[in-house]
Amino acid sequence: MFAISLGDDGAELRPLEPWQAEEFLTHMDRGREFVGQHIGLPDVVADLDSARAYLTSYAEKAASDTGRLYGIWSEGTLVGGVLFRTFDAANGTAEAGCWLEPSAAGKGLITRACRVIIDWAIEERGLHRVDWYASTKNLPSIAVARRLGMTKEGVLRENYLYRGSRSDTEIWSVLAPEWRAAKAS
Ligand SMILES: CC(C)(COP(=O)(O)OP(=O)(O)OC[C@H]1O[C@@H](n2cnc3c(N)ncnc32)[C@H](O)[C@@H]1OP(=O)(O)O)[C@@H](O)C(=O)NCCC(=O)NCCS
Repeated sequence: MFAISLGDDGAELRPLEPWQAEEFLTHMDRGREFVGQHIGLPDVVADLDSARAYLTSYAEKAASDTGRLYGIWSEGTLVGGVLFRTFDAANGTAEAGCWLEPSAAGKGLITRACRVIIDWAIEERGLHRVDWYASTKNLPSIAVARRLGMTKEGVLRENYLYRGSRSDTEIWSVLAPEWRAAKAS
């Protein structure tokens, strides 16, 4: 019902809610292999019940102001999303994340969608810092962090156990004054 345009290619950022679980699952089925290269989202969204449960957990996070999730639609098809996995208004911090199905990659959709939600978090909600976690092997995700003007802060060594193997995680972040300075330039 409500949509934010992501540019002149018709892509839109919209709420993605539990009633859209079927559409979400169909989208995840198209992108399962691609999305699951470094993150466990496709394993969490395995069938209709788990898709609904995942969206419900984010509806509950939104209600308690501890997280958010939004879908990206391209020509009317759900192709990905962006989220605040955590959101701590009192402390002024949040962790952003994202995913796309492969047909939607390479068009700047995630960078544009992240700009919308990070700008909302900083300018409307007064957050001071937004974090970004990515496997050291996830070069497209690291490139997004860089395009968003984030700074690499360090590496968590072998902290993420996924599909039986451990990987290192890079932590990137942007602070509110940096975000505003980048916008102004
Ligand atoms: C991480 C992920 C979302 C990045 O997708 P992406 O398409 O590379 O990111 P964007 O949508 O921001 O697009 C950027 C690309 O589009 C290009 N582009 C085209 N128009 C653009 C625009 N207007 N603005 C920015 N980039 C644009 C960029 O040059 C870049 O291409 P390049 O990598 O060949 O240089 C994707 O790889 C993915 O879903 N991976 C699986 C899930 C995952 O790992 N999520 C992250 C967890 S940390």
